[in-house]
Amino acid sequence: MAVLDSLYLAGGIVAATAIPIYIFARLGRKLRVLNSSEERVLILGASSGVGRAIAQQYARRGARVCIVARRAEKISALAAECGKGCIWEVADFTAAEDMVRVRDTILRKWDGLDTLHVCAGVSALQPVMALTGVQSAEQDAGNSGIENAADIARRASQGNFIGPFVAAVTFIPMLTRTSTTPSILLVSSVAAVVPAPTRALYAATKASSLLLFQSLAIEHPGIAFTFVLPATIEGNFRASAVDAGPVLEADPNKYGLKTEYVAKRCIEAVDGRVTGNVVLPWFPYALAHHLYYLIPSFIERRAAKKYNFPS
Ligand SMILES: NC(=O)c1ccc[n+]([C@@H]2O[C@H](COP(=O)([O-])OP(=O)(O)OC[C@H]3O[C@@H](n4cnc5c(N)ncnc54)[C@H](OP(=O)(O)O)[C@@H]3O)[C@@H](O)[C@H]2O)c1
Repeated sequence: MAVLDSLYLAGGIVAATAIPIYIFARLGRKLRVLNSSEERVLILGASSGVGRAIAQQYARRGARVCIVARRAEKISALAAECGKGCIWEVADFTAAEDMVRVRDTILRKWDGLDTLHVCAGVSALQPVMALTGVQSAEQDAGNSGIENAADIARRASQGNFIGPFVAAVTFIPMLTRTSTTPSILLVSSVAAVVPAPTRALYAATKASSLLLFQSLAIEHPGIAFTFVLPATIEGNFRASAVDAGPVLEADPNKYGLKTEYVAKRCIEAVDGRVTGNVVLPWFPYALAHHLYYLIPSFIERRAAKKYNFPS
């Protein structure tokens, strides 16, 4: 208990130092001057969850929104709800051809783009060795088990890395050319910066797109890049699992962040041209990321507990 108290005290001290630095670093940012109704916003992954809530909130304030996902019936129903400023495309954000079609539509209808929200992603829920089909840590995986695990890893990469990559290379030139205040927001995850059992593939693939976009931010300083890293969110995200694994953590619909809240924080971050990582909630997850460097075993134990993983 005394150890735990000291850890929280250490966390408090880090927080007391970090908060003023954080506020100072963000004070100088340039606020957006676009009128709500002028803003042209593309949301990839808008048929459910956070992307859907972002689209609804932009539509309510009169922005022009283009909503994209693969499920036609969900996207067309949302478009009807969002009103006449809304355009929609059924498209897969991992497919170059689909993204070029979305880009052509936006150019034709709006002459350009100001804001891109990359919300689409897929989950993965099993411990890595379970993907090979072995029953115990001592058993070697066979050819087909290893192939199966590699195939699942490719699908996680496709949804969480290739999709954001294709989106970035498709839309960065158009944003740069056609907007006075271009912005890109990537919905990443706390899992991208804090390791977790049963989430290895998810964490690794979300981390790779986060690092990609953080590096793109340096390569394209004219675009404001924001990375939102939420903890568990309510909803049905786990249904997208590329490994169809069981859910071992507490019920996300009881304990998760509200999608409307995450969406609101995403839009506020873009409006305020807040660049860099926005961790939701900041406490304890932003600290967990730093504490991992200082006391990895503490974070490993907390992560095992959160995911009900025997340690
Ligand atoms: N839920 C959580 O606990 C949680 C926590 C932290 C971070 N996140 C991140 O938050 C983001 C949104 O998740 P959510 O909770 O809102 O989940 P969600 O309700 O499952 O939404 C995911 C969205 O992505 C779309 N999508 C997936 N693959 C796509 C593809 N290849 N092409 C186009 N669209 C695709 C889905 O639409 P279609 O299936 O119709 O294509 C859906 O609209 C994800 O990036 C996730 O990693 C989630």
